Amino acid sequence: MKDTFPCPVARIGLIGGGQLGRMTVKAARRLGCTCVVLDPLQGSPAGQVAGHQIVGDYSDPAMLRELAKSCDLITFELENIETETLIRLEAEGHRIYPRPELLANIQDKYRQKRLLREAGIPTSDFMDMPKPDADVFDSFGYPLVQKARRGGYDGRGVIVMSDARAFAGHLSVPSYVERFVEAEKELAVIVARNAGGECRVYPTVEMRFHPQQNLLDFLVAPAGVPPEVARHAEDLAVRTVEAMDGVGVFGIEMFLSSDGQLLVNEVAPRTHNSGHHTIEACVTDQFEQHLRAILGLPLGETRQLSPATMVNLLGEPGYQGRPLISGLAAVLAIPGVCLHIYGKAVTKPGRKMGHVTVIDETLEGACEKASVVKKSIKILGDEKL
Ligand SMILES: Nc1ncnc2c1ncn2[C@@H]1O[C@H](COP(=O)(O)OP(=O)(O)OP(=O)(O)O)[C@@H](O)[C@H]1O
Ligand SMILES: [Mg+2]
Repeated sequence: MKDTFPCPVARIGLIGGGQLGRMTVKAARRLGCTCVVLDPLQGSPAGQVAGHQIVGDYSDPAMLRELAKSCDLITFELENIETETLIRLEAEGHRIYPRPELLANIQDKYRQKRLLREAGIPTSDFMDMPKPDADVFDSFGYPLVQKARRGGYDGRGVIVMSDARAFAGHLSVPSYVERFVEAEKELAVIVARNAGGECRVYPTVEMRFHPQQNLLDFLVAPAGVPPEVARHAEDLAVRTVEAMDGVGVFGIEMFLSSDGQLLVNEVAPRTHNSGHHTIEACVTDQFEQHLRAILGLPLGETRQLSPATMVNLLGEPGYQGRPLISGLAAVLAIPGVCLHIYGKAVTKPGRKMGHVTVIDETLEGACEKASVVKKSIKILGDEKL
């Protein structure tokens, strides 16, 4: 393996300037890399720390080409990118990880499900639904979940239907239906894999969701499951990334069903919300790990050094405009609290504005502190709705 590098070690082109990008840029700087961010929003969270941003659409072929020309390799922090140009750029010799073809297979959730099924990865039963039809939904059977094939995130594009009456609220976009899983827990596993096939997996975490917003509410690391279940989840996650021949960091979301089965829900071809705690709680965080993986460098240790919980800081309902952080000093006074503010210029109800990781000697202690954090800190805005 190459052992002497110039400085910068690599110039990384990052498609998407959100919080995942911001944390990737920070890790990149630590490793001696520089970043150029492509994002339509001037001064995006990642652009602010990269110092160099191309202001343009993620899917604009001219912008993507400009990004490719100014960097040694390209990666992305979001799935909803037009892949045709990326496939062309790759064919012309530009390095892009994860591979654009895999991104195309994952960003269409129906194709992703088919990929999982073909690889023998357990996942809930599903059926294509090019045009929603009440009779077809009926014959598939309720309760079911209708999912948009493309463009959904943070639960948008997902409709849980308990019975035929719910059909009235269906999504009228290309979609598929899948079996509703009676989940005891939702788990996630972060896996890193480099082009040489070397793989590292982080300890399984448990996600708890906000009942209304369907956003990750609370993350518990390690997951509160027996060690053999955690090991099984980690094996399954590694098998999933191997089956996809993935290069980079991947977030594998799973259900632990009430009858004890592990089913893969979905695969994110990028760093993941459920891996934020790795910044403080693990030897190598997921963002640095992603860079190591795509640069073909040795992968870092994934060992968790301390129990941790993570809380998303969402824009408080009823407010928009310039963010005002209330309770900031109070939470910083709690030992073990690590605050991350993403630098977004405006808040909106439910928008991810930051997160807090709490580390503590015990998971119970971390959870108790996290509930205090949730109550104490609020992202308000200077305009009332
Ligand atoms: N088959 C299912 N059975 C039961 N609940 C489900 C099912 N599919 C999805 N859900 C619920 O809906 C949530 C969102 O679904 P999914 O992860 O597929 O969508 P998403 O929009 O990509 O979400 P995110 O961006 O938050 O990961 C899941 O975390 C889970 O709580
Ligand atoms: Mg999900």
